Amino acid sequence: MQDLKPTPPDLPPDAPTFLRACWRQPVDHTPVWLMRQAGRYLPEYRAVRQKADFLTMCHRPELACEVTLQPIELLGVDAAILFSDLLIPLEAMGVTVKFPEGGPEITNGVTKADDVHRLQTPPAKDTLGYVAEACRLITAALPARIPLIGFAGAPFTLASYLVEGGGSKNYQKTKAFLYQHPKEAEVMFDKLVDMVADFLNMQIDAGCRAVQIFDSWAGALDPQDYERWGTQYTRRLVQKVRRPGVPVIVFAKGTGTYFDRVAASGADVLGVDWTLPLDAARGIVGPDFALQGNMDPIRLLCPWEHIRATADRILDAAGPLGHVFNLGHGLVPQTPPDHVKRLVAHVHEASAARHRAGI
Ligand code: CP3
Repeated sequence: MQDLKPTPPDLPPDAPTFLRACWRQPVDHTPVWLMRQAGRYLPEYRAVRQKADFLTMCHRPELACEVTLQPIELLGVDAAILFSDLLIPLEAMGVTVKFPEGGPEITNGVTKADDVHRLQTPPAKDTLGYVAEACRLITAALPARIPLIGFAGAPFTLASYLVEGGGSKNYQKTKAFLYQHPKEAEVMFDKLVDMVADFLNMQIDAGCRAVQIFDSWAGALDPQDYERWGTQYTRRLVQKVRRPGVPVIVFAKGTGTYFDRVAASGADVLGVDWTLPLDAARGIVGPDFALQGNMDPIRLLCPWEHIRATADRILDAAGPLGHVFNLGHGLVPQTPPDHVKRLVAHVHEASAARHRAGI
């Protein structure tokens, strides 16, 4: 399991807190960022979104830059995440992606086995250069202490959109495809690894100081399937994007019962959802990984005392080293922005007190 893992780089004490935590170095407070921190719960995001539809916002670097920066000032988070979408690289592979109300829609994806041969893997810089441009604008505007996180989807989660044509409750078509057409599925997963690796490397070249691989729907797979279609391909992806000092985060949601197989991807940081307490996650993977998570985003709809108590419990379970505070999935549009601001401030204060006390 450890053969892929580099030794942590020697970080200067003034390195950004988020990067120090990713490399399990001592920090004076626990860094925080939140999945979907730029999004519809923020009135400032909705104001930009009134002027442009969602895909236009992803395609236009100055708009992507504007909304990426919004939560930095508004919330005081320790990292920025590139504003884009998981499905953007699929456009470059030759499929049509739309975002009508009610979730993404993919036309001319993969409906029969032969379709995988139609998928293209053009160089990211030729087809997704606008994402690199957004990264350059964002990193030029960010203070040095706030790193930009790039991201992409893991092969299984991307394949699920290609095969289902959108979101899904039970991944029926995707699983049927894997079970009945494993050879063609391998062709599709190989292409996804190549496209996504090139896309993430482009983001790193354009200034991203960490990357997150989202395997949002990995939990639909049983442990054996995850080993074959999750671990194996994610591991190849991690190998292809590995650069000195650039942590790779793998967030595979719903995988608590086979979390050892997520760790086997060779990531530096493992995202954890709320179904696996952080001390239990640490027990499974040992000391060589940082952990990121794991508050249920729905708790942010509750009164403040409830949120505070949950955050404290998470800090206690995380222990002092190698923790990046985050949610167990993205913020929902109904979240009161004030609760999010208070959460970030509280994690900073409460963790600083714990770190000073040596807890
Ligand atoms: O986290 C961030 O703030 C960065 C931006 C980001 C978005 N999507 C913006 C977005 C990121 C990292 C994503 C990744 C993404 N996209 C994932 C993986 C993360 C996860 O949530 O599991 C997935 C599965 C998608 C696909 C996707 N995009 C869905 C299912 C939806 C519809 C559901 C929804 O929340 O609306 C989207 C749309 C989307 N992606 C929005 C935003 C801000 C809403 C679009 C709008 O403004 O109308």
